Amino acid sequence: MISNILREARIYEELAGQTIPDGDRPAFHLSPRTGWMNDPNGFSFYQGKYHLFYQYYPYTSKWGPMHWGHAVSEDLLHWTHLPAALAPDTLPDRDGCFSGSAVELPDGRQLLMYTGVVSGPKLLDKTSKDTQTQCLAAGDGVDYEKYGGNPVLTAADLPEGGSPFDFRDPKMWREKDGTYRCVVGNRPADGSGQILYYSSEDGFRWKFESVLAENKNRFGLMWECPDFFELDEKYVLLTSPQDMLPSGFEYHNGNGTLCLIGDFDGKTFQEEHDQSIDYGIDFYAPQTVLAPDGRRIMIAWMQNWDTLSIASLKAPWFGQMSVPRELSIRNGRLYQWPVRELEALRSNPVFYDNVTFEGELTMVGVQGRKVDVTITLRPGDPQHIYKKFAVWFGQNEAYHTAVSFRPYESVLKIDRKFSGSRRAIIHQRRCQVPQSGGCITFRMILDRFSVEIFVNDGAQTLSATMYTEQAADGFKFFADGKVSVDVEKYDLDADRE
Ligand code: FRU
Repeated sequence: MISNILREARIYEELAGQTIPDGDRPAFHLSPRTGWMNDPNGFSFYQGKYHLFYQYYPYTSKWGPMHWGHAVSEDLLHWTHLPAALAPDTLPDRDGCFSGSAVELPDGRQLLMYTGVVSGPKLLDKTSKDTQTQCLAAGDGVDYEKYGGNPVLTAADLPEGGSPFDFRDPKMWREKDGTYRCVVGNRPADGSGQILYYSSEDGFRWKFESVLAENKNRFGLMWECPDFFELDEKYVLLTSPQDMLPSGFEYHNGNGTLCLIGDFDGKTFQEEHDQSIDYGIDFYAPQTVLAPDGRRIMIAWMQNWDTLSIASLKAPWFGQMSVPRELSIRNGRLYQWPVRELEALRSNPVFYDNVTFEGELTMVGVQGRKVDVTITLRPGDPQHIYKKFAVWFGQNEAYHTAVSFRPYESVLKIDRKFSGSRRAIIHQRRCQVPQSGGCITFRMILDRFSVEIFVNDGAQTLSATMYTEQAADGFKFFADGKVSVDVEKYDLDADRE
């Protein structure tokens, strides 16, 4: 029953995937079987396993006509690639199967909802307008059959002024009463973004309910990849705005991420608080799953459209997912913490307590590119708060990535200028972190080609990729002024039982 286009992709990915040695990929972050990966799709728990699909073009390390790649895991860290799930092979999705989501149907099948793309004729300026509709496919966890009634949401289901060319990324879920809902990103007449809310009795016939939230040109323009859920007695709307303008330390230029926290009256969302989801360089299009134990877990594409040139296109794969993160809300703020399953990957603990120093320091046993390192800082001299602390990691003579903290400004900075990039793109980002008197803790998760920093219990996170040789595995500490530091370090190995 599968199309030639999908069959070819499956044959190709199996052969090409085998040529990539495990050591050339992240160990516990999902990377594409071969070729290109962007957004996480269909993040779900189905038949005893987490399923994660992704925007996928198997044939080169560049974006192309979108397929859905597929992987499964029992612990969100050891991933097994499965055959590609969707290919652009029917009329409503002939130019791409864009982002979407998954739920389980009462008959035991898994239902995928995705955006079908059909390109219009090439215009004089060589661009074309892509019509976007929402489509379905149902399957058994490996093979999926596109629904004969596709598309199920079209221009006819848009509110007045909604653009049929920017209408994408359905996030669907099942309510307690067994009915279905989804949110979809759209561009209204004001040219910015809005999130549309739809309902369905059976998952197949959908009905427009309301405009859930409106950007009104405040946070970037178009809002991509929405997700909407209840968490800690609040409602959370996640979205990834395109074309952002910066705002203080909160939002940066380009493709950003936005978390809105508020209430929901069944039709519209009442915003109370806004924040960035991640303050680093590489993080976009997050999607969540509700785990069987009630945790709300988020994963994102650990990359940004504006920094694609960070990696060499000669590599046989491009794109990786973030570490899955448990979400919570405290005092109106989104907190993120690496899934607790990560602790089972820890080995070789190294602890240092209260090491007071000034200048430069290395610590025996603190090194590696697959590590979990927690650093706690306080002034080494209670009368004088230090001026600056920095840690270099992924470090050798040629390379390093740096995190630095200036207590007088309360600013934490990530800097990957010296992480192998040969392009003049953004290499630094700063984040304001509430702290008092130079006391701050941050946890760093490294996995061969990335670092994710969780500040003070996860009130802020900063994620960045670093494509340098694995021999660059040193850690070095610097202090301008006296610092007292605790370090807790573990190796992380996804190959361990
Ligand atoms: C976000 C995005 C989505 C779209 C997909 C296409 O990164 O632009 O809006 O569905 O990527 O690959």
